[in-house]
This record gives sequence, C-alpha cells and structure tokens, in this order.
Amino acid sequence: MMNVLVIGSGGREHALAWKLAASPRVERVFIAPGNGGTSLVGENVPIPATDIPALARFAREQKIGLTVVGPDDCLAAGLADFFLDDGLPVFGVSRAAAQLEASKSFAKDFMRRHNIPTANARVFEDCANALAWSQAASYPLVVKADGLALGKGVVIAQTPEEAGTAIRRCMEERAFGEAGARILLEEHLTGRECSIHAIVDGSGYLAFPDARDHKRALEGDQGPNTGGMGTNSPSGFVDEALWERIRAEILDRFVTGLRAEGLVFRGLLFPGLMLTTDGPKVLEFNCRFGDPETQSLMRRLDSDLLELLEAATQDRVATQTPKWSADAACCVILASKGYPGPCQTGFAISGLERASASPTAQIFHAGTKTAHGETVTAGGRVLGVTATGASLEEARARAYAAAGQIRFDGKQFRSDIGAS
Ligand code: AMP
Ligand code: GLY
Repeated sequence: MMNVLVIGSGGREHALAWKLAASPRVERVFIAPGNGGTSLVGENVPIPATDIPALARFAREQKIGLTVVGPDDCLAAGLADFFLDDGLPVFGVSRAAAQLEASKSFAKDFMRRHNIPTANARVFEDCANALAWSQAASYPLVVKADGLALGKGVVIAQTPEEAGTAIRRCMEERAFGEAGARILLEEHLTGRECSIHAIVDGSGYLAFPDARDHKRALEGDQGPNTGGMGTNSPSGFVDEALWERIRAEILDRFVTGLRAEGLVFRGLLFPGLMLTTDGPKVLEFNCRFGDPETQSLMRRLDSDLLELLEAATQDRVATQTPKWSADAACCVILASKGYPGPCQTGFAISGLERASASPTAQIFHAGTKTAHGETVTAGGRVLGVTATGASLEEARARAYAAAGQIRFDGKQFRSDIGAS
C-alpha cells in the first residue's frame, strides 16, 4: 500500500486524486493545497503548490510513494528535479523538459529539427523588428508570447494594426512580464482543434483517447479565450486513420527527437492539435495534464491510474495496456460571473448532493472551498460536472441534467459543450 500526494488545486487535481483514491494500492491521498472537493477523496494539506521545499519535506515525512504534479509552473520551476534529487518518486517532467511548454520558441525549434508538423513561425526579441515584419505579413497573423502567460498570451490579429497592438502589449508594456520579452509571429491555421494526451518516458509512450476542449467563454466559440469551458472524449474528430497519422507524425517523432537529443522526458505530453486539411499540426505542447480534459479522461479510464504513472517513473510505460471505457464522457464547467475576467466569489453552492445522485455523474471541484460546513465559490472556474453515456449525446444530456441541479449566484456555463 502506498500514500500519494497530488499537487495543485484545480478540477484536474480533483479528478486525478479521485482516480488515485480508487486504486487498490493506495492507502492515503493528500492534495496540496487542494480545494473544497478534494477533501472528499483525500486530505488537503495547506502547502502552496509553489513552495517546493515544504512539499518535499511533507513527502518525506508522510512516506509518499508517488507525488503527482498538476500545474505547469511548478514543473517549469524545477519541482520534479528537486524531488528526484531528494530521492522522492515523482510523476512530472524535469525543468529542462518543461521548456517544451514554457518556451514556445524552444518547442518550435524542437519540432523543426524533428519534422513534427506545426505552423510556420518567426521568433523576435526586438519590438521594432517584429513590428516591421508584421506590416508585410499575411493575415490573420497569430501573435504569441514565448513564455507561460496563463493561456492569455495568444492573439489572432486580423490586421497589421491589431498585430501592432498585441506586439507592443507583449514586448513594450510587458503585459505578461518576462514571458513576453520574446514573441512568435505565426501562420494562422484553420480546422478543428483536438487535445491529445500521452504518458512519455524512456521506453516510449502510452496515448490516451482523444478529447476536445471548448476554449472560448461563450456559445458558438465566441468571446474571450479561457482555461477551458468544457470537454468531451472522444473528440468526435479523430478516426483510426487520423490516429495513425498522429502517432506516426507527432508522437513517434517526438520520442525519436527526445532520444536524438538526450532529453529525458518522464511525464505527460499534451499536444494541442489543429486538424487541418494538410493533416494534424501542433499548436502547442503542454507538459502536464489538461484542465478540464483530465476530468473527462479520468471518467473513461477503467484501469488503475497509479500503475500507469508509476510505470512512467520506471521507464515501463510503453508496455502498459490500460482499459478505456467505450462510453463517452462530457465535462461542463460551471464558472463564476465575469470569468475569464475578475469574478466575485464566496457564494454558497447548493444542489451538489442531488446533482451527484446519479451513478453516471461525477462532480469535480475547482474554485471551491469549505467554510463553516458550507461549500462556497472561490475562483473563476468553480465546478466540472461530468457524466458518461453510451453515446456523446447521452453523456452530454446527463452532464447538463446534473449541472442544472446546482445553484450559486452568478453561475455561468456554455450550453453547447459536446455539441457539433
Ligand atoms: P495556445 O496557447 O498556443 O494553445 O493557443 C491558444 C489558442 O489559440 C489555441 O487553442 C487556438 O485556438 C489558437 N491558436 C494558437 N495558435 C494558432 C494558430 N497558429 N492558428 C490558429 N489558431 C491558433
Ligand atoms: N484545457 C487546456 C489546457 O489545460 O491547457
């Protein structure tokens, strides 16, 4: 039996902790710092995800057999390196590998070297040069901050004026701090977007089923970009032939590239893809589980998550053969009014028990906390209401039925998650 520690406080971490708690080999699940829902499946520990030495101390004291890292910024800050140096087993990539997410120019160069299909892009470190080049570019033009910008560092500019504003915001005003000191000006791709997850280690990779995120705040993919307003798995966009291409042109080449460069990657690779008429192309690499993709994916995993994550720490992942449910899963995010902008929080949430009464529904908390025995809102994305069903239509109807039972002031959600 083993104790595990999950680091983070979102819906993704609740879903991971929920699945780990179901493992026959797991004794205690700790979540640092967790949220109002993670305390239902484990024990919350009041250590911030950024306090790496305190987390390592806790892991040693509690004899944690595996620490599972949710957020990208702790990985980019070297959490996994720190743990491994201390002899503490951890699922999450090293700081060097996390550069594939934390620097879009690093990722772009890696993809170019290994012939992984992606949008053409030019990198700029000088604002005047970027502005001059953008004048003569073709439009729409995608302006991207190089570093981590909480999903806000991408602007699709329709005109040179819009591009100019975005470039100055990044490079002169430093709206994203140092993340915008370097930018990419990128070719605009069109098609359907799809999220791929694969556990990668020295033995190769294990791909999860595909998923679809709905990134815009409003129905019909209108409004500002968010962290994700809902997901479904399967995405409905990837048939077996396309999966073959994703494996051959993206995942196989990724692993071959790692080996050629001697780059050690043990953790989760989540490429965001655009499915273009020329085939699948990588929009970005993430080196962690997606949120809210994980909420849908964990509902479809019929095997022990601990076995898969542990295999990756021992370079055995390519030999794992987990079972995935043939059922579809859907996750609808209930957000606070104002999200993705500033939101008021602290409102009581009711109907959680009624909403979870159906065995096909499962509610993962994100921005919630427990105060005086009551669950209250505490963030932009509040809950991820998931359901499974024999078809995507059934999963989606069940998720919306459960979501309808839940009430809090300012509740907002998209009514078209999982709809084509
Ligand atoms: P990223 O943070 O790189 O995932 O970008 C956020 C969102 O911007 C993506 O989910 C896409 O919707 C959009 N995007 C990024 N790069 C491109 C591109 N080259 N062409 C079209 N859309 C893009
Ligand atoms: N759902 C998108 C992400 O986690 O980046």
